[in-house]
Amino acid sequence: MSWIDIGALDDIPVRGARVVKAEVGCIALFRTDEAEVYATTNTCAHKGGPLSEGIVHGRRVTCPLHNWVWSLETGEAQGADEGRIATYPVRIEAGRILIDGDAVGKRSAA
Ligand code: FES
Repeated sequence: MSWIDIGALDDIPVRGARVVKAEVGCIALFRTDEAEVYATTNTCAHKGGPLSEGIVHGRRVTCPLHNWVWSLETGEAQGADEGRIATYPVRIEAGRILIDGDAVGKRSAA
């Protein structure tokens, strides 16, 4: 893995999200707790809703369009919903968020 610095942890409020652009498309970063961040595609697998505008609860996000619930850990749909969204490895180091550059391609813009 080649880790890329994509911003400060404190730029994302707890239970908030932020979007970064990468070769694979828009990536949503979700801060689920004080020191916990997950990265997934920003595009809902149902009908393309912007997941970063959804509601973060626990380690899940509810899509703002039709309320499907996705696991931020595995990308799998929860409950009766079906499908999977892409997830990407992230880690936090010294207050910075690092994402696996090999998984997302080179970031083009913040
Ligand atoms: S587009 Fe996300 S639930 Fe329909």
